Amino acid sequence: METKIEVLIPEEDIRARIKEMAAELSEKYKDQPVLLVGILNGSVFFLTELAQQMSIPVEIDFMAASSYGSGKESSGRVLITKDLARSIEGDHVIIVEDIVDTGQTLHLLTEMLLERNPASLELAVLLDKPTRRKVCLDADYIGFQIPDEFVVGWGLDFNQKYRDLPYIGVIKD
Ligand code: IMP
Ligand code: MG
Repeated sequence: METKIEVLIPEEDIRARIKEMAAELSEKYKDQPVLLVGILNGSVFFLTELAQQMSIPVEIDFMAASSYGSGKESSGRVLITKDLARSIEGDHVIIVEDIVDTGQTLHLLTEMLLERNPASLELAVLLDKPTRRKVCLDADYIGFQIPDEFVVGWGLDFNQKYRDLPYIGVIKD
């Protein structure tokens, strides 16, 4: 059967919103160096667009954590499969992620990074599904709040597919 994907957020809206988030971050961090920590693989499209739209220089680094095996349901566990290249002690760090769903992944990653004593730690996400939250977690910068639908595109995948879609879409079975 052919997979149909319905557009939830069109490309222009996403780029325009990321530009606004970039402006807000650039203003906030204009006087201090900032490190963007992208969570692989989902964050890469959002992170590159955000970094390029920011008017201040940023450093970037990546961590990989996997909480979803395959399919649409969370395993509830987070496995760090790639760590940062260097210490973040004393640094201003922004975690960049594609989506907060149950919040479990970012909750655990935030705790882990806070133990490394950064000067500050904020969280920027492209998408937020507030109705799905299982642990208390509020992102500092949110691109869009979306309903409880499984979405793909802009780094978000379904079984590793559709990450490269330039819009946010919903898979219709
Ligand atoms: P959480 O720990 O439940 O917040 O899940 C976070 C991770 O689950 C995200 O980084 C995504 O990789 C994945 N995820 C959650 N919702 C979706 C979705 O709608 N589409 C694709 N991946 C999702
Ligand atoms: Mg992810």
